Amino acid sequence: MFRNLILLASVAVAIVGCEKAPEYDPAHDYFTYANYDAFVTDHLALDLDVDFQARSLRGTARLHMRNLLPAERTVILDTRDLDIGAAQVWLEGEAPQAAVFRVGERDDVLGQPLEIDLPDGFDPQGGFWLEVAYETSPDASALQWLPAELTAGGEHPLVFSQSQAIHARSWVPLQDTPAVRITYEATVRTPPSMLALMSADNDPLTPRSGTYQFEMPQPIPSYLLAISAGNLFFAPIGPETGVYAEPELLEDSAWEFAETQDMLDLAETQLGPYDWGRYDLLILPPAFPYGGMENPRLSFITPSVLAGDRSLVSLIAHELAHSWSGNLVTNATWRDIWLNEGTTSYLTARLMEELFSKQRADEERVLDWEALQADLETVPERFQPLAPKVLPSDGEGAQQGMYYAKGQFFLEHLERLFGRAVFDEFITGYFRKFQWQSITTEDFLDYLDEHLLSAHPGVYTREQAGEWLYQPGVPADFQPPVSASLAAAEEAAKAFASGALAAGDIDYADWSPHAVVHFINSLPADLAGDRLAAVDNAFGFSASRNAEIGRAWFIQVAQRRYQPAYGAMEEHLARHGRMKLIVPVYAALVANGADADLARKLFAENRNSYHPIAVQAIESAMDRAADKTTS
Ligand code: BES
Ligand code: ZN
Repeated sequence: MFRNLILLASVAVAIVGCEKAPEYDPAHDYFTYANYDAFVTDHLALDLDVDFQARSLRGTARLHMRNLLPAERTVILDTRDLDIGAAQVWLEGEAPQAAVFRVGERDDVLGQPLEIDLPDGFDPQGGFWLEVAYETSPDASALQWLPAELTAGGEHPLVFSQSQAIHARSWVPLQDTPAVRITYEATVRTPPSMLALMSADNDPLTPRSGTYQFEMPQPIPSYLLAISAGNLFFAPIGPETGVYAEPELLEDSAWEFAETQDMLDLAETQLGPYDWGRYDLLILPPAFPYGGMENPRLSFITPSVLAGDRSLVSLIAHELAHSWSGNLVTNATWRDIWLNEGTTSYLTARLMEELFSKQRADEERVLDWEALQADLETVPERFQPLAPKVLPSDGEGAQQGMYYAKGQFFLEHLERLFGRAVFDEFITGYFRKFQWQSITTEDFLDYLDEHLLSAHPGVYTREQAGEWLYQPGVPADFQPPVSASLAAAEEAAKAFASGALAAGDIDYADWSPHAVVHFINSLPADLAGDRLAAVDNAFGFSASRNAEIGRAWFIQVAQRRYQPAYGAMEEHLARHGRMKLIVPVYAALVANGADADLARKLFAENRNSYHPIAVQAIESAMDRAADKTTS
């Protein structure tokens, strides 16, 4: 029976003339339902009410679209859990007409297609308007509605969005693909005492009226649409830079990120003009699931980098650098995300080197190199190329972020081979050439070939570059970064572990927080509990205000079941919502073979304060760790 079916199927396939599965098309975005080959949006106008009681955004999205394939009469938009009320279309200056729409079946990764038929006789001509009336679900995957008790002030609720990668569709019906770029405008209504902010032209002097107008005149991909509303206030940093936060965090934030204007000035001299207007930061409550998000003109930032010593500001350099790599030149599909994150990581290191020192940048490079080594052990080989063939069936996070460091080291490799001056010219030329465009890895490779490889023949071939892009691992001729200060911390860890050096004699007064992190990571796996107690007493890891030190330490604590620090570890898991800080701790608890129940119990206690994206990430990390311990 099955054989016959298979036979039948292969006959059918042979008849239609394609013998094998369709080729993976690197120029196609598999993570959208939108028929963006037939219709493209160029402008979006939002009109939204922010309803904290209902935990909902309610209003209309008006899309200005062009029709590229006249035979297509159905516009397909992306949505996820939206309640769609009505759809209408019209030509500029004419009356709206109701349009028939259907919401398709829900897919866990992709959401639901919204199909809108153009009415009979409607001629979309050179362009038309399509308006959708809708309401978001209280569980919208992009939005977190924080009750007052999860904010710093504890008196006002706060909402924020996180659209990357494919969550914009959970708060706006649109073509949710980075291949399409749109300008946008918005009217947002909030309770009167609140301030609304968007990834747009926030005016620091806006009166708190409860009605806010925004404009984003530069064309951006949908994943950069962003909104927040809450008890937010502004403090200036420099003429074009400043910080928004709850009043309780405002002063600390302005102090911690005082270098932002210098970063912007330096980035402009290195990368070309900053074409976006202002560059501000929004410091969110701890539930924000990422370190930062490069929403244009207004990066969203975790409060976990408020270390009190400005030691974690490379995060700001990173989000700022995205103004070029990502926001100006954008990955065309999520397969090409290394173009955003790898290039940004490269630029971040360059900025850090220039603003602070080569020593500090090299310390960060070595930590990233070590994280990459760990990733290469866990990420399946087929996801290790910088440009892998990812599909929605792989889920959203198949590459586990390894494209940050691998992409950075690819560019550093090229820089070393061609020399900094030549490479700088290449990179600034690349931004100029592709500005305001969404491009694929192959566009990058063609440009690289023409302007660097072939322009300086005999140094590096297209095939060699292709190894980074299309093969797993890291090519053997790459020279890993080194850092003398981190090497010293590693030596100290070894000497301490062997008993040659007492904890109290470790001379760490001059160590950077990065060196401390490296020291913790370098402690051998079989270190006895009393030795851990000795370093904890000497350094005060369990009580550190530096979240990166806490992260490194509590991963060790969980791996080794160092129970005297479990109380502090539990506080760490309750205090932070940033995935990078908590996911590996939960995973390590499950993986130690004895604390799976404790991990699930702590997760249950904290889950209401975590973002939906973080909840999902923790669950799958714990499941993966459990699979590993039982197999
Ligand atoms: N754009 C990313 C965050 C992101 C990536 C969200 C992929 C969703 C999908 C942001 O710029 C970022 O890289 N954040 C890092 C910062 C770090 C590398 C300095 C983070 O959140 O840890
Ligand atoms: Zn980034």
